[in-house]
Amino acid sequence: MTETQFDPADGVAFIDGVYMPLAKASIPLTDRGFVRSDATYDVAHVWKGRFFRLDDHIERFQQSMKGLRMSLPYSAQEIADILIECVRRSGLRDAYVQMTCTRGVPPRGTRDPRLCQNRFYAFAQPFVWIANEEQRRDGLKMVISSVQRIQPEAVDPRIKNFHWLDLTGGIFEAYDRDAVVAVLIDRDGNITEGAGFNVFAVRDGVLATPDRGVFEGMTRRTVIELAGEAGIACEIRPVSADELRGADEIFITSTAGGIMPVTELDGRIYGNGRPGSITNRIHDLYWGRKEDGWLCTTVDYTETAA
Ligand SMILES: Cc1ncc(COP(=O)(O)O)c(C=O)c1O
Repeated sequence: MTETQFDPADGVAFIDGVYMPLAKASIPLTDRGFVRSDATYDVAHVWKGRFFRLDDHIERFQQSMKGLRMSLPYSAQEIADILIECVRRSGLRDAYVQMTCTRGVPPRGTRDPRLCQNRFYAFAQPFVWIANEEQRRDGLKMVISSVQRIQPEAVDPRIKNFHWLDLTGGIFEAYDRDAVVAVLIDRDGNITEGAGFNVFAVRDGVLATPDRGVFEGMTRRTVIELAGEAGIACEIRPVSADELRGADEIFITSTAGGIMPVTELDGRIYGNGRPGSITNRIHDLYWGRKEDGWLCTTVDYTETAA
């Protein structure tokens, strides 16, 4: 197969200093990132040719690496340049951009993580949505999963990780129960998060989102900031499953889709099956502010930008 058979718009990857078609990119089978989920990653997105919060994503990625005692020979600026270059080469105006650091391959005959050279992988691919257009417009069906979220004392969810067996169990349960997404609870019966998203409950005009046992999503952070600017109170504290059930409105947040209304929880319909007014307001603020270029980094797609 020749390089010309690959369409850059299907995705571009960066591995070991080389840019290549995403479909051709691979990692060694013995990389601990693959065989032991010993890896961290972050996902940023490009919308209409602009990265959103690129520096914040890279800072969070570097914090995650620090938490796992990993390091790379790239500065934050160099990582940014690589990600921008993946997008530039792909030509994608709307893209899902992942950076990954794996533990790497241990020297022959050992499994000592200290001896591994950490590896960096990055790619840009077409934008990925958690929910389709109709679901985003009309609201998602969600279930409270019977699968418990892995305890934060065991795996710190603030370090973005590939320990997704609980979250994936939730996805299957959602589909089995005629829903699209599942939120997992912790052992105290408080809600946590779902596969790739955070959760907000709205009651009497006040937002609430879990304070612990969750990945501190960039979209969650953005919602907290936007709510503050708009004068909407937002509480970051434990949210019980019962409180979520009793909410006026529910929405989820993710880089893979922004602000997405939930209009059905465990078969119960919310807001007559229509997204609520606070959810719509936050949704419009999120997309509107991005449209204005807020916290954006413009990608230069010209050849000379390389
Ligand atoms: C477990 C988990 N929670 C929440 C999120 C949402 O984070 P963000 O808004 O940064 O996409 C993600 C994103 O992938 C995630 O994997």
